[in-house]
Amino acid sequence: MQHIPLSDNDAIDQVPHVRPYLGYGLGLRSEYFDLVAEQCPAVDWFEITSENFMVEGGKPLHFLNRIKERYPLVMHGVSLSIGSTDPLDREYLHRLKKLAEHVQPAWISDHLCWTGQGGHNLHDLLPLPYNDEAVRHVARRVDQVQDLLGRQILLENVSSYVTYRHSEMTEWAFFKAVAEESDCLILLDINNIYVSAMNHGFAPEDYLSAIPSERVQQFHLAGHTDYGDCIVDTHDHPVVQPVWDLYAAALRRFGAVSTMIERDDRFPPFDELLGELAQARAIGDKALGDRRCPA
Ligand SMILES: [Fe+2]
Repeated sequence: MQHIPLSDNDAIDQVPHVRPYLGYGLGLRSEYFDLVAEQCPAVDWFEITSENFMVEGGKPLHFLNRIKERYPLVMHGVSLSIGSTDPLDREYLHRLKKLAEHVQPAWISDHLCWTGQGGHNLHDLLPLPYNDEAVRHVARRVDQVQDLLGRQILLENVSSYVTYRHSEMTEWAFFKAVAEESDCLILLDINNIYVSAMNHGFAPEDYLSAIPSERVQQFHLAGHTDYGDCIVDTHDHPVVQPVWDLYAAALRRFGAVSTMIERDDRFPPFDELLGELAQARAIGDKALGDRRCPA
């Protein structure tokens, strides 16, 4: 893993900050296990969905053990439910920690959302009301998670389709406040910013400009489905041009950030994903210029 200093125009204070950098990655999905293990394609790193590997054995762990010898990995969860009012699931966290000890990921992430309440799992990544009470609530829980895991975690912005009457600030102000109060890091999903911007009518550039650069450690890119009156974050299409444009703007704002493309349905031949990754790399080279991280 490389460590790169943030550029001068992103420096928040006088303390030099280095951001670990992995390059351009993909999600490790079971549809591609054989191909990745056998052919070692030219991908810099892979992101695994933590819950898929929190098992005692079987095919996922077999492939994981082979692939982790050859690629840097990061762990990305969907079950933390950091915003819920239910108690944190200690058993889940211990299993997550055990997997991390096995995988030795570069970092661990989950979502700034809630997924259930009262013991019921809604199987969706739901947004929170954006207010001070929610900031304090989430920050307290992130503290506990980071203490238990013994490391900072990354939280990711989710796409959203609803708003709350109890929101008192923008999503980006809320995200920034949670990250700063809990001292966690940020996984910025560029497609999710675009999806929510289109659904709620805000300027995605306003979102980017409010996010504290020194906390951004990873980008997600993905495709979505446009239903006309609503855009849904389906991860079943290639990345669209407006999201590529926003990605270029994010690179200009934050500098080189490890970037990964999510694909979770309508899986194409692997070469198509490599083509999208090459497109991300080309946009990165052009947007970053001299700030580009050495290959
Ligand atoms: Fe994402």
